Amino acid sequence: MNGIYGEYRPVLENIKDEFEKRIEEYTQKEYEKSGIRIYEHLIARVKEEESMCEKCRRKNLPETPESAMKKLHDSIGLRIVCSFIEDIYKNIKYIKAFPDCKVIHEKDYIRHAKPNGYRSYHMILEIQFPCADVYGNNPGTFYVEIQLRTIAMDSWAALEHKLKYKKNVANQELIIAELKRCADEMASCDVSMQTIRDLITETEN
Ligand code: GTP
Ligand code: MG
Repeated sequence: MNGIYGEYRPVLENIKDEFEKRIEEYTQKEYEKSGIRIYEHLIARVKEEESMCEKCRRKNLPETPESAMKKLHDSIGLRIVCSFIEDIYKNIKYIKAFPDCKVIHEKDYIRHAKPNGYRSYHMILEIQFPCADVYGNNPGTFYVEIQLRTIAMDSWAALEHKLKYKKNVANQELIIAELKRCADEMASCDVSMQTIRDLITETEN
């Protein structure tokens, strides 16, 4: 098989499916316990060959399966979109308890937003999976990137990405400031929504 993932493409698809299955399992378990579905929707993908090649070139790496699966850690990506901030941290707790997995990197852009206003929780997981990796180890070591966001954070990221504004426009500073303002307003709505849910839950009990 050709392409940057070579013969490993099906393994990557299997790992992606395995993660989706595990996430669905704990979500079901949590629903039975609390009546809350702790994620709203999720997207799982193996990074397109073309964008993986482009990333290798950008990072000055040869376009090989080793670069794609060992040097870079986002060949498999999952985005978990939650209704409320609290749900994100519940998902993280379950993900950290996954068997054969280790978190090797995490960034909390929710508590510490990027200067442009971007918010999300990023984790890189290392998984031992019962298939050979590019170094011939079996179980092999593979990497998965997980992003967790609220619906509001996801909307902002999608729109900001869509705008892909030219970096040399005259009113650049205004655009940056306005995007940041939108991100902060949406973040403030997330906090209000969480507070409203807390109020409702209190009343119910
Ligand atoms: P990559 O080389 O892109 O993996 O960057 P990184 O690992 O240094 O950065 P980071 O983990 O912060 O970002 C990885 C991913 O998060 C990106 O591929 C996007 O999906 C998302 N992301 C990060 N920053 C932004 C942002 O400012 N806007 C949007 N829309 N998405 C972002
Ligand atoms: Mg990254």
